[in-house]
Amino acid sequence: MKTQLLIPAAGMGLRLGCEGPKALIDLAGKSMLVRTLERLAPLGLLCDAVIMTPPHWNGVFADTLSLAFPDVPMSIAQGGAQRQDSVRLGLALLDPETEIVVIHDAARPFVALDSVQASIEAAEACGAATVAIPSVDTVLHADANDYLIDTPDRRFLWLCQTPQTFRVAVIRAAHAHAARDGYTGTDDATLVRRTGAPVRLVTGSPTNIKITTPADLAWAAYLIRQGHDG
Ligand code: CTP
Ligand code: MG
Repeated sequence: MKTQLLIPAAGMGLRLGCEGPKALIDLAGKSMLVRTLERLAPLGLLCDAVIMTPPHWNGVFADTLSLAFPDVPMSIAQGGAQRQDSVRLGLALLDPETEIVVIHDAARPFVALDSVQASIEAAEACGAATVAIPSVDTVLHADANDYLIDTPDRRFLWLCQTPQTFRVAVIRAAHAHAARDGYTGTDDATLVRRTGAPVRLVTGSPTNIKITTPADLAWAAYLIRQGHDG
């Protein structure tokens, strides 16, 4: 099945305290986006990848990518205000014959290729899949005043990662459904589940961290310098 990669990279890294787009921040000598794409390169999906960028940064992203990946044609397009908007806009840019879309955050440069592959196979079989890891911690559900409401059974709690991989028709329908409802989520698999369709969880790796805070960035740079990058 024709498969395309969609990379939401339009965030401005507020929690990281970025001055520009988070995807362009230096991570041990290369931009985070380039590291993430280099990681995914062996899958053979960089050609035709769709990269969503913040407004006004299209040219800088184009220069960065053509320097790092000369002769690899990618689409670079302006994202939206929220991650969900960036993904919705990216879905509209897929080739008409594409059947499977792999959505992977620019902010997860350590993803394991076998979990990407497993997510593709699960999406082919069941329509929607997300990489996730079983929670090793007990998770507390609290109210707005920091009082414990309840403690969900840890055996059924997973921590969400990307990639999230879908049949294109399934994820497009899910975004249309969310738009009709005015629902905004922080991932795409949740939008599919809200339509009632199944989403398969594929076990990922704890090293597939999302770089969100300055401590994450420092840890990621340390891992790369030590050669322990997943
Ligand atoms: N993203 C996006 N469009 C947005 C917001 C986020 O494409 N409007 C992307 C980010 O570039 C990132 C991924 O979604 O690759 C996950 O987002 P997150 O880690 O939250 O990054 P930021 O939104 O940049 O960070 P923050 O929430 O701290 O501002
Ligand atoms: Mg964000």
